[in-house]
Amino acid sequence: MESKRSSFTGKLGFVLAAAGSAVGLGNIWRFPYLAAKYGGGIFLLVYIALSVTFGFSLMIAEIALGRKTKLSAIRAYGSLDKRFSFVGILCSLVPVIILPYYSVIGGWVMKYMFGFITGKTAEMAQDTYFNSYLGITVEPILWFLLFIGITALIVLLGVEKGVEKISKIMMPILIGLIVFIVAYTLITMDGAWDGVVYYLKPDFSKFSLMTVVAAMGQLFYSMSLAMGIMITFGSYMKKEINIEKSVKQIEVFDTGVAFLAGLMIIPAVFAFSGGNEAALGQGPGLMFVTLPKIFDAMPGGSFIGAAFFVMVLFAALTSSISLMETVVSIFMDKLKIGRKVSILVVLGGSLLLGVVSSLGYSAWADVKVLGMQFLDFFDFFSNSLLMPIVALATVIFVGFILKPKAIIEEVELLEPFKFKKLFTAVIRFVAPVCILIILVSSILTAFGIVSI
Ligand code: TRP
Repeated sequence: MESKRSSFTGKLGFVLAAAGSAVGLGNIWRFPYLAAKYGGGIFLLVYIALSVTFGFSLMIAEIALGRKTKLSAIRAYGSLDKRFSFVGILCSLVPVIILPYYSVIGGWVMKYMFGFITGKTAEMAQDTYFNSYLGITVEPILWFLLFIGITALIVLLGVEKGVEKISKIMMPILIGLIVFIVAYTLITMDGAWDGVVYYLKPDFSKFSLMTVVAAMGQLFYSMSLAMGIMITFGSYMKKEINIEKSVKQIEVFDTGVAFLAGLMIIPAVFAFSGGNEAALGQGPGLMFVTLPKIFDAMPGGSFIGAAFFVMVLFAALTSSISLMETVVSIFMDKLKIGRKVSILVVLGGSLLLGVVSSLGYSAWADVKVLGMQFLDFFDFFSNSLLMPIVALATVIFVGFILKPKAIIEEVELLEPFKFKKLFTAVIRFVAPVCILIILVSSILTAFGIVSI
């Protein structure tokens, strides 16, 4: 089976496919709300610093591991060292947990898209709209079902390629719209520039360990690291393609989109709240509360809002499709079932977890797991717990068992590996220490032992 692995065509094919799966709600929804919450400039600085050292090294390691073994994550670790088979299994759990709640947020995106199409812009721009919408029991579940249903249908019919083609056209339009919205906010809205300062100027007094925990979790999430995805991508990558260059391109693109999304949301929050910093700490709803206000203030805003959410929907769909594909193939492999059955199993499991995530905001709002409601808990469990464990195991594995040399050789098949010293230092020393600190602190905070 392995010898028949298909591969990406063309030089850009790999980068585009990997970037298409990496850019999604993580960049547009998750990054801005975390940056707003964790101190703006300081979060951005920590994120970029982690991305060029840690993200760079881990992505190189994962892609090279995949290309070297030509195996997907579940088997790649075990095939090189039996003791590390558990990492493959932990990796596989991550997309299983992410897919359901990702689709709940995909449902929110669809709801807002239809809101703009039907001209409810002024209504959606009200402060309380988002929270009262989430408080409804049934409607958000229906939108979630629609979103995950479309994802499953695309995977079932095998028309992912078509969606990817459309999204290649949508992506530049989305970026263009974001730039337009940024320009509009900065030119027309009083107080927006204070937001730019907050976003770009690091305030070191706002630094805490939690900034690093959040930034690292976001880095994993946004670049689809520490979950085996890049290993699988690597297993399809041709030997003629330069891993180091591809990684740099994916990182610049992914971080660029996230950066712009932050610039779109944070200054607007300042403008609409009159500089009240409390408005920054809203959490997951930030984008859904802020954007309608911008569109409401803009001539032709309903149309632009609708167009914007259509593009976001496509970005979200390419990610959810790739998430579902991953989970479906894991279940096919592990349970030895056919593709159709696997899709049904994955859909069933996701419906269950997704409905629970959605009810966590409404009927079950009082039920808490470790002090978090369900969606936050799933997000925390995958991003702050599983991914750091997988990342730690990966760097120990690559640094001390497989040895960095094996990865460097794979990268250097074509051209010299420019940053190989940085790579080795990060994989062997910096990353293990950092991740360990992060892991311990997120466990301690989750159990309420310390607050950081
Ligand atoms: N990186 C994606 C985003 O930013 C989300 C994501 C996480 C993902 N894990 C994934 C996408 C696995 C595809 C496959 O939205």
